[in-house]
Formats: sequence, structure tokens, C-alpha cells
Amino acid sequence: MQTDIIQYYRDRAKEFEKVYWKEERQEGIAQITRYLQAWFQGKSILEVACGTGFWTERIAHTSGPIHSSDVNPSVLDIARAKTYASPVAFETLSWEDLNKAPDGYQSLFGGFIWSHILKEALPAFVEKCLEKVPDGGLLVFVDNTWVPGNSTPIHQTDPNGNTFQLRTLENGEDYLVLKNYFSREELEAYWRNRVKKVEYFELEYFWLLKIIK
Ligand SMILES: C[S@@+](CC[C@H](N)C(=O)[O-])C[C@H]1O[C@@H](n2cnc3c(N)ncnc32)[C@H](O)[C@@H]1O
Repeated sequence: MQTDIIQYYRDRAKEFEKVYWKEERQEGIAQITRYLQAWFQGKSILEVACGTGFWTERIAHTSGPIHSSDVNPSVLDIARAKTYASPVAFETLSWEDLNKAPDGYQSLFGGFIWSHILKEALPAFVEKCLEKVPDGGLLVFVDNTWVPGNSTPIHQTDPNGNTFQLRTLENGEDYLVLKNYFSREELEAYWRNRVKKVEYFELEYFWLLKIIK
């Protein structure tokens, strides 16, 4: 069984956006789009783990230029083939090397990457994201809430409290996928003493963190 999150998204690239077709999630997706388009209006953005550019495309309707990065060339190929209302540049980059991304962006966005980072690595992720944004700059993260009966069941939990789901792709292969879920308090605690302001927004299937450095 595959357990590497990077390989999982490499293999999932072509079927990735099906996750956004779920009927019950459409209202939340529309609400997230409204939030992101308002918050990033006119701002330049460094995007972490952009995937196939699903949110990039939506944000670009109101934002300034976007520099979008992801560790997997296969998802970036799909993102590059889309058209965007603002200039978007793409780069193959792991968040672990975020310091190598260009400087000078006013804000940072990470969609559905937070839940795929080991809990013990999150402080380093926070640090690297903060380093790329000026004081007063905006950081936004979006991810999933745990919804009993709807979320994929947790298959395994490691000693650090990281949770893993069993997922099968169209190629028939099973993957053990790191997917962590957090309370509002846990999420805010990662940022509270580091930044000027943290706001938490909860929708039925999603949460958003809006942070002012
Ligand atoms: C759930 S997808 C989210 C994609 C996109 N942000 C979205 O919301 O539609 C997670 C993405 O994280 C990327 N990823 C996984 N590990 C990464 C890492 N270490 N650095 C950068 N991207 C990573 C995967 O390639 C995948 O595109």
C-alpha cells in the first residue's frame, strides 16, 4: 500500500477535482469563493500547494498576480492548462523549500494542505509561511471540518495524533493518506502569539483561517 502523500497526489492528479463535485459541498465552495475573492482583492499572492489550480482560478478573478507552487509536476500541468483572469506563474516546489520561492508577495494562500502536514511539522510550516509575508500581510488557509457520516473514516492514528484514511484511486490502488482534523482552538493556537490577528470561519464541511501577520 502507498503511504506517501506526494505520490498519492501525483497519481490522483487527473481525478482530483471530482472532490469538488460533491452536491452537498456546493454551497460551502461558493461561500469560500466569495470569502477568498473579497479578502485577496487587489493583492499579490504566493500560493502553497496549489494543486490543479481550482482555487487559483477563482481567486484570480479579483486578485493581483499569483505565484502558485506545488510539489507535484502532474497537478501543475493541469493548472497551467487553465486560463486565469490575473497573471499566474507556476513553480514546482515543496513547502519545505518555501524560502526558495520569490519574495515580495503581499499575501499567502494554502488550500487543503494544512490537513496533509504531520502535526509535528506544522510549527515549521507556520514559520516558513510567515517568513514569506510582510508585517500586516494576509495569510489564508482553508481545509475540511470533520463531518461524522460524511468524512472518510479514520483508519489509523499514530503516536503523535496524526490520522490516516484509506483511499482507493481509479487505478485500483489503495493509499493510506494523512488527513488531520482540528478544532478551532487547536488551529488558532498555532498562530495566536505570532501574529496580529487570527479569525476562524466555520462552514459545514470547511474551515478557513484569516491571519494578519
Ligand atoms: C488536497 S490537495 C489541494 C490542492 C489545491 N490547493 C486545492 O485546494 O484544490 C493537496 C496538494 O498538496 C500538494 N502537496 C503535498 N505535499 C506537498 C508538499 N510537501 N509541498 C507542496 N505541495 C504539496 C499535493 O501535490 C496536492 O496538490
